[in-house]
Amino acid sequence: PIQSELCWTLPEDFLDWPPPRPVAAHKGTFGHLAIVAGSTGYHGAAVLAARAAQRARPGLITLITPASVYAVVASQLQAVMVHPWSAAHPLPGRYTALLFGPGLAAADLPAEIPATLARLWQEANVPIVVDASALDHVPRGPIPRDALRVLTPHPGEAARLLGTTTNEVQSNRVAAVRALSGQFGGAWIVLKGYQTLIGRQHGPIFVNPSGNPDLAQGGSGDVLAGYLAGLCAQPPLQGDPERLIRYAVWQHGAAADALSRRHPAWVVEDLVRTLGRVAPHRVAS
Ligand code: APR
Ligand code: MG
Repeated sequence: PIQSELCWTLPEDFLDWPPPRPVAAHKGTFGHLAIVAGSTGYHGAAVLAARAAQRARPGLITLITPASVYAVVASQLQAVMVHPWSAAHPLPGRYTALLFGPGLAAADLPAEIPATLARLWQEANVPIVVDASALDHVPRGPIPRDALRVLTPHPGEAARLLGTTTNEVQSNRVAAVRALSGQFGGAWIVLKGYQTLIGRQHGPIFVNPSGNPDLAQGGSGDVLAGYLAGLCAQPPLQGDPERLIRYAVWQHGAAADALSRRHPAWVVEDLVRTLGRVAPHRVAS
């Protein structure tokens, strides 16, 4: 029966997650995220993703952005290292996870960026998250057996990847997750929107209960991608990718819910500040 494959995420699933940080930990313990994001007209997507990644607290974050927007992006970030894209910047290098997108959309995008994404997707032994227009450059077919791969389409992006319509995706969202994961080598799919679905070609599909229509503003997806990738970069969290992805999506929605209860008319910058601060609780039964 269709229903049995669906599992609701509950806040209490995260009472013991993320695990406490060892007292002798140092920033090397928590990995180094590389984000490739932004382009002319979409510099803010790169900034939002980087700030949201900080909220996940990986050890280090490097943001690589097209030279056309480097100056404006770099001027808005402090703890994040920012570099203009260049082929001399080796990926995956020492990075412990990669995020491609958001905001990699402009016509002046360096052609090596899509080519690099395609190569790394098939070869790199570190987690890779792909969001927004970068989704168009992900190769179909097999992925490395032991490396995490996550795609975070909204229903319109899912429809484009599947060659169908948004209505068709929305009319059977579970089937869309299964089909997308099947095309992309069994990658994890985060199909966003009301009750975001998380799943793969086979196995359970998780339904996220948090979040609300106040998230329907440009930039909230960029924040999710950055936060998710910031968790993926942390070696102590990499052993449980299912919980990691479910937590990221739940926390993003729960932060929005907390804002909506307290501050009407909040904006995406408020979401970045609240992210990571909602404590999972046991729901009274
Ligand atoms: N309930 C719960 N969550 C919601 C709701 C809702 N009603 N509406 C939106 N969300 C959440 C989604 O689940 C997702 O996490 O908000 C986020 C929106 O992400 P995106 O759709 O990727 O939006 P974003 O990229 O920030 O902005 C839209 O996407 O299609 C492009 O060009 C378009 O610039 C636009 C951009
Ligand atoms: Mg988006």
